[in-house]
Amino acid sequence: MSPSPGAVGELFRARFGGAADGVWLAPGRANLMGEHTDYNEGFVLPFALGQGIVAAAARRAGRRLVLCSAQEPGLAEVDLDGLAPGRVAGWAAYPAGVAWALAAAGYQVPGACLAIDSDLPAGAGLSSSAALECVTALALTELGGLSVDRRALAAIARRAENEFAGVPSGIMDQSASLLGRRGHALLLDCRSLETAQVPFDPAASGSCPLVINTRARHELAAGEYGQRRAECERAARLLGVPSLRYLPGVGDVDRLADPVLRRRARHVVTDDQRVLDVVALLRSADEDVYPEIGRLLTRAHVSLRDDFEVSWPEADVAVDAAVDAGAFGARMIGGGFGGSVLALARSEAAGPVRAAVAEAFARRSWTAPEFLDATPSASARRVALG
Ligand code: GLA
Repeated sequence: MSPSPGAVGELFRARFGGAADGVWLAPGRANLMGEHTDYNEGFVLPFALGQGIVAAAARRAGRRLVLCSAQEPGLAEVDLDGLAPGRVAGWAAYPAGVAWALAAAGYQVPGACLAIDSDLPAGAGLSSSAALECVTALALTELGGLSVDRRALAAIARRAENEFAGVPSGIMDQSASLLGRRGHALLLDCRSLETAQVPFDPAASGSCPLVINTRARHELAAGEYGQRRAECERAARLLGVPSLRYLPGVGDVDRLADPVLRRRARHVVTDDQRVLDVVALLRSADEDVYPEIGRLLTRAHVSLRDDFEVSWPEADVAVDAAVDAGAFGARMIGGGFGGSVLALARSEAAGPVRAAVAEAFARRSWTAPEFLDATPSASARRVALG
């Protein structure tokens, strides 16, 4: 798990003709609970995955970033003194955006060469773009001898995504990649930005979280995500609160006359509560909390499907097939309209769950799903060249 530091070091050598100064790794994330709650100042509970993005990097003289990727052809060259939103297209916009956001925060970003490799499927809703931002942020700050604490770095990476790459996401993904901890999920209050590490080690209780990449690609930049954000903001305005987080209870959404806005707000309020419920279960002394967490996952899926309307056919089929085959529960994760499902099952049931989902996809002549282990893992870090 996680792409090999040795291989990305070799890629660096082959493209740039010398040894890298170091290799950094930033993980992708799965989200246990709390979807479309981050930009409503609510709660989220993501965890860092074992899979991620590695960057072999070295300082170079001059004011350029030179980038290559094992997944993309050619080299991308970026002039550090001419950076502005809209100037860099494609995948290089994410690392370039980080350099831009660091400079905007007052840091002197060094010229550098970066070779990138990934074992995170792109467009699978596992935050490959946040992992790319975070690995670039760590590499550039360490190469430049800049000391930036991780919360500030998460905000800088998010700014790169929002303002430079033009994707209006919240703070969850960058926080999970930079602040996650092995064997834990990260409780993040997106209003106060307070965090807490919540023990989450399903394997220790004989359970197994499973990510199912439905292979239906999601594109956050495509309007629906922004539309949901706008609907939530409108609902909050109509209800007279700064954000939906301020609603005292789910009953308050009934004051919205528009049935669509009512459903959107109901999802946000109930999902915030489900985050707190999952946290309470994980912190409880009960032996086996995973069946109940699974039920909450499936309830969240219904809410995302029917109230927030961000699910997609492959996710609905994967959730139903997983639950029918004995999973405790399952739900779509990430922004929606494509990407992945997270299922939770007793370890012995993982094989039958995989088989049932694969079979349900084959019956519909859909591209076979991809199954990934979802082990709560450590946050972004420097790794040995290996
Ligand atoms: C994407 C965004 C996150 C969050 C989720 C939905 O992953 O990047 O900030 O809004 O969608 O929960």
